[in-house]
Amino acid sequence: MTQRTSVDKPVILIATGNPGKVRELSGLLGGIEIEFKCLADFPNVAEVPETGSTFAENARLKAVGYAFQTGIVSLADDSGLVVDALGGAPGVLSARYGGEIGFDRKMEMLLAEMECAPDKIRSARFVCAMTIANENGEILAAAEGVCEGRIAEAPRGNGGFGYDPIFVPDGYNNTFGELNDAEKQQISHRARAAAKIMRYLLGFKPL
Ligand code: IMP
Repeated sequence: MTQRTSVDKPVILIATGNPGKVRELSGLLGGIEIEFKCLADFPNVAEVPETGSTFAENARLKAVGYAFQTGIVSLADDSGLVVDALGGAPGVLSARYGGEIGFDRKMEMLLAEMECAPDKIRSARFVCAMTIANENGEILAAAEGVCEGRIAEAPRGNGGFGYDPIFVPDGYNNTFGELNDAEKQQISHRARAAAKIMRYLLGFKPL
């Protein structure tokens, strides 16, 4: 079943509870004839555990899990920061890195870990996997976006969310935290994945 609004627009659930992601995805996927709902509209939905070992696996688990629970075609984003000097950490564990502490502490911890790492390279990348699934567990679309860059010596800027203040995208001197939303949206991992997913959404005509 695909829900429709009173003006007959198809509905897709943006299946994330992360307000930073909801804000970015709403901007990136705006301007098309689809009504987007978010998890805040479904307070009784149980969180889908991220038990996969790759971004793509987790995006798939979340898209299928939330579509199954809500009966609405769901788009899930799994993303994170991959730091070469830390062997790819925090990676799929980006949200859970350091446990229940704020992002100021997580970034402090990451910078401290890098100081101790044998490899002094600062290269890193943000990766975003996006999947759209329906309530029958069918995968309707999947895409991945990557933004290469490096880890700053210290956090800079208050924009964005999560690890943005310590990530400097290639070709820039500013961190994502110092760029405004529009600048980040042009080059981010999420923007790149969303651009591919848009090709599917533009032709989205559910039964
Ligand atoms: P998950 O996809 O729910 O596992 O969470 C991804 C985590 O990766 C977020 O909580 C952030 O910590 C981090 N992350 C993903 N995308 C971004 C971004 O665009 N900026 C900063 N941090 C991000």
